[in-house]
Amino acid sequence: MFSKNVKIAVASIAIVAVLSSCGAKQPKYNYQIDMQKYENAISVTDKSYLVLVNKQNSLNNGYIPDSLATVPAELTLYGKEVQLESTAALAAEALVCELRACGYTDITITSGYRSYEYQQILFNTYLGNEMAAHPDWTQERCEAEVLSYSARPGESEHQTGLCMDLISTKNVVLDETFAQNPAYAWLIENAHHFGFILRYPADKTESTGYSYEPWHYRFVGVKAATEIHNKGISLEEYLD
Ligand code: DAL
Ligand code: ZN
Repeated sequence: MFSKNVKIAVASIAIVAVLSSCGAKQPKYNYQIDMQKYENAISVTDKSYLVLVNKQNSLNNGYIPDSLATVPAELTLYGKEVQLESTAALAAEALVCELRACGYTDITITSGYRSYEYQQILFNTYLGNEMAAHPDWTQERCEAEVLSYSARPGESEHQTGLCMDLISTKNVVLDETFAQNPAYAWLIENAHHFGFILRYPADKTESTGYSYEPWHYRFVGVKAATEIHNKGISLEEYLD
C-alpha cells in the first residue's frame, strides 16, 4: 500500500513520537571540572532558593542571609572580597571554575551579596550621577531612570546573597558589551547546569522590571534553572 520511502518516513515519525512521549532527555552536560565538591550545592531544591525579590517583593532592612561564605579570591575581580549565600557560593565557584576550564579565563566575579545599606549608597550614587548628567530633569525623572537599572534598597536580590555579577578582566565594565564576550554565549547555553539563570534577559524587561543585564546570574538550583532555561521564561513567570 505504501512505497518503501513512505514506510521509512512513517516509521521515523513513530520513533520520534515514542522518544518525545518518553520525555527523551537532552544531551547530558559533560562537566570539565571535578564536580564532586559541588554536586549537593547545585542540586538543592529548597524553596528558599526561589525567593523572589523585585520592585513588588522587598526585603526588610535587617535581612541578612543565614549563612554567608566568601568566594575564593582567585575567582573575584582583583581578588576583592565577594560574599554569597554559602550554597550559592559553592555553585558560583563551580560555574566560574568550569568557565575557566572551558577557556574563558577572563571571567571573574565582581559582586555578590550586598547589604541594604550598601544598596542605599549605590542607589543614591546613581541618582546623583543622573541628576548631574541631566540638570534639566526633575528628581522624579532621574529616579525613574535609575530604577530601570538599579534596585532601591530592600528591592535588590543582591541582598539575598543568591546572585552575582560576572565581568571580564579584558573589559572591566558592567554593560551590554558583556554579551559580546564569547563566555556569554556559553553562559546562556550552560549556566543552568550549575543552577544559575540569566536574571534580567533582554526580552523580559516588562516582567522583571529591569533593563537587560547580561552579567547578572541568579542561583535557583539546577532543577528550577533547567525548567526556566528550557521554557525561556523569567523567574517572575516561573513563580507566577
Ligand atoms: N541591578 C540590579 C537590578 C540590582 O540593583 O539589584
Ligand atoms: Zn547584579
